[in-house]
Amino acid sequence: MSKKTVLTGITTTGTPHIGNYLGAIKPAIDASENPAFNSYFFLADFHALIKCQEPERVARSTREIAATWLALGLDTDKATFYRQTDIPEITELTWILTCQTSKGLMNRAHAYKAAVDANRDAGKEDLDDGVTMGLFNYPILMAADILMFNADIIPVGKDQIQHIEMARDIAGRFNHNFEPLFTLPEAQVDEETQLIPGLDGRKMSKSYDNTIPLFCSSDELRKLINQIVTDTREPGEPKDPDNTLMHLYRCFAGEAESAVMRQRFIEGIGWGDAKKELFEFMDAQLSAPRERYNELMNDLGEVEAILHKGAERAREYSAPFLDKVRHAVGIRSLTDTSSSRQKAEVKEKEKSAEEVARAEEGRRRAILMQIRPLLEQVEQAEDKAAAAQALVAEKAAEVESLKKKARQKAQNELDLLTEELAAFL
Ligand code: TRP
Repeated sequence: MSKKTVLTGITTTGTPHIGNYLGAIKPAIDASENPAFNSYFFLADFHALIKCQEPERVARSTREIAATWLALGLDTDKATFYRQTDIPEITELTWILTCQTSKGLMNRAHAYKAAVDANRDAGKEDLDDGVTMGLFNYPILMAADILMFNADIIPVGKDQIQHIEMARDIAGRFNHNFEPLFTLPEAQVDEETQLIPGLDGRKMSKSYDNTIPLFCSSDELRKLINQIVTDTREPGEPKDPDNTLMHLYRCFAGEAESAVMRQRFIEGIGWGDAKKELFEFMDAQLSAPRERYNELMNDLGEVEAILHKGAERAREYSAPFLDKVRHAVGIRSLTDTSSSRQKAEVKEKEKSAEEVARAEEGRRRAILMQIRPLLEQVEQAEDKAAAAQALVAEKAAEVESLKKKARQKAQNELDLLTEELAAFL
């Protein structure tokens, strides 16, 4: 069986913190050690421009994130590690996909809807006030990031699930309209690692201003840990072991050590002592990668060279693949007169059963998307059987009346309608 591809991007707008490390970076690096997967990790610097108009910050964050992943031991022989803007094929694919994406789909994107809602709440007349086309089109750029490498599995936070669904829809539409070139990606959300508490006990997040930078100095780390909010229980009083300190401790310590610490809270360890222990534990684990990080930040030429190598490797895949995509939509050399259909037929023969099944699933999904309103009509009808029969008859008449190409499309829809509504027919 061919290897599955895991792909994820990191928007370059901030300084990596402990929450990023435990929730995203560590699991990704661990997974890249598994030979069953091909891993693609990239710095999403074009995405950064959507939310950040501070050039220095974007540039600094890009340096910091690149150095962080390397300092934490990412093996760039195993994982392909690159910067989005080093892959021109991604931007080109973005346009091609833009032409396959209905505006209505983008209207439903959470980030855009949130901006519109905020304008409405503020009583603004222009509901699109402050919305850039970058924000609006952002799910298409993200779809291009993913589809460019035919990724199967996309590890993301919950807030990103909708974008992966959109990438699937866009891929399905392309596969249906042109050639089945794109894999339909799936989101992978790890519930447990999402919940890293910050200084105030809420989820660690830049938007709450409660983060602990991953590679701050030992002194800074001690200071921040001392700021973690606790209750007013005195040393010797039993404490609830489900507290922020314990939670962070557990993220760094093994089972046995965590069990011991838990017991000490129950027995009344003072908050100050607990903070000291947590600091020592975290500092011990972070000190070696911190040192490596500082070295890399002082040798950015090396980091740049590693990213270039990663981009080269990524483009070994993206460049020839984009050629196929261009050909499929009709962007071709003048002397290339082979039609996509001929090409597709040849390819069909070479495909493995698995690829054929995957393409078929994409095709079905795309057609289903188009006939969904019809299926809903039947679902809501009082007499479902009568509605289904009328609908299928109407579609059959439509197929009859159409010319060749349009006819094939309608026939596909009719086939799937007949299949979906079989119970009523
Ligand atoms: N939008 C993602 C985020 O904010 C980052 C991202 C960009 C990404 N492109 C991607 C994640 C492709 C996964 C796959 O977290």
